[in-house]
Amino acid sequence: MHEIGNKLLRPLRIRTPYDAVHCIGHASSNPVPHLRDFCERLRITQWSNDHRIALQFGSPRGRLVIIVGGANGDGVHSNNSAKHVMSLDQIVDLLGNRSRPETSWISKVAGTTAERAERAVNEVTSHSELIGELSRNIKKTGKTYYAQFPAPIDLFALVRLSRPRNLVESGVASGVSSTFLLLGIKANSGGILHSIDFPVFRKGNRGNLSWAIPQGMTSGWAVPRKLRSRWDLRQGRSEGLLRPLLEEIGTLDFYCHDSPVDIAHFEFEMKSIRKHLKPGSLVVADNTDKKVFDETALSIGAEAFYRRHSSLGAFLVP
Ligand SMILES: C[S@@+](CC[C@H](N)C(=O)[O-])C[C@H]1O[C@@H](n2cnc3c(N)ncnc32)[C@H](O)[C@@H]1O
Repeated sequence: MHEIGNKLLRPLRIRTPYDAVHCIGHASSNPVPHLRDFCERLRITQWSNDHRIALQFGSPRGRLVIIVGGANGDGVHSNNSAKHVMSLDQIVDLLGNRSRPETSWISKVAGTTAERAERAVNEVTSHSELIGELSRNIKKTGKTYYAQFPAPIDLFALVRLSRPRNLVESGVASGVSSTFLLLGIKANSGGILHSIDFPVFRKGNRGNLSWAIPQGMTSGWAVPRKLRSRWDLRQGRSEGLLRPLLEEIGTLDFYCHDSPVDIAHFEFEMKSIRKHLKPGSLVVADNTDKKVFDETALSIGAEAFYRRHSSLGAFLVP
């Protein structure tokens, strides 16, 4: 079994020897085309398209457990992990439809193949439990939505693909983007996220900004506790905090802008980060002023790509 398994599992990046195989993604849409082939080669005939179920087969030469849908992302798991697994569709349902990842954009931005980008995206299902916690934390406040970054799953995938050490984000609010950046860091087993947020608090029931923080809470209140050990959250305006932070950390590997104020603010952030970028650094920004963003990218020989023709853009420093 290992002989066949090793050959077929290499493209899936699954460690062997094993007695459990974790397959990221749905059985039905089958983002890992080798899986069905693999099962057929092992003469496993039982198959289920219910991607939330952990299947245990007696294979011809050993025990094989296939967990379709994700768990811890490291390839070898016990049956227990299956009960917390959500499919990608279920995660998108929780986060809102615009969060459906755009693999072609991710692969262009990260300068990689569509296959690798898709694999990174599907890995997010391995973190279902923490994503569920984020969603429950938000719902506890009686609202399901606090203006949030439109592409959190894409952010996770970009962190997985670029493996940054120093990440900085501007604009935290409830902490959706922070959570997905931190999930990427967790899966990479390395890196630190420095976040800057100037919190705006809810006043009453009317007239609040869509990201206003519920009373008694503060920036990033919905970020799951377990993710906070690699998080350095600083509260205040980025106009005052960003440059000292960048001087402190030196090199910037990943930057995420989501503090929509005005063009001057965006220009200030782009100017501030520029000299800290190095080849391989990634910059992602929502609500961009496209002229300023394109010019920043061009000035370092990069090309900005926009997601679904929106104002969410990103570039990789060559
Ligand atoms: C759109 S929300 C961020 C949403 C967040 N990225 C998410 O995914 O949940 C924008 C955040 O930027 C904050 N903000 C506004 N002006 C700022 C400034 N000058 N510096 C830093 N943060 C600012 C807002 O208070 C708000 O928390």
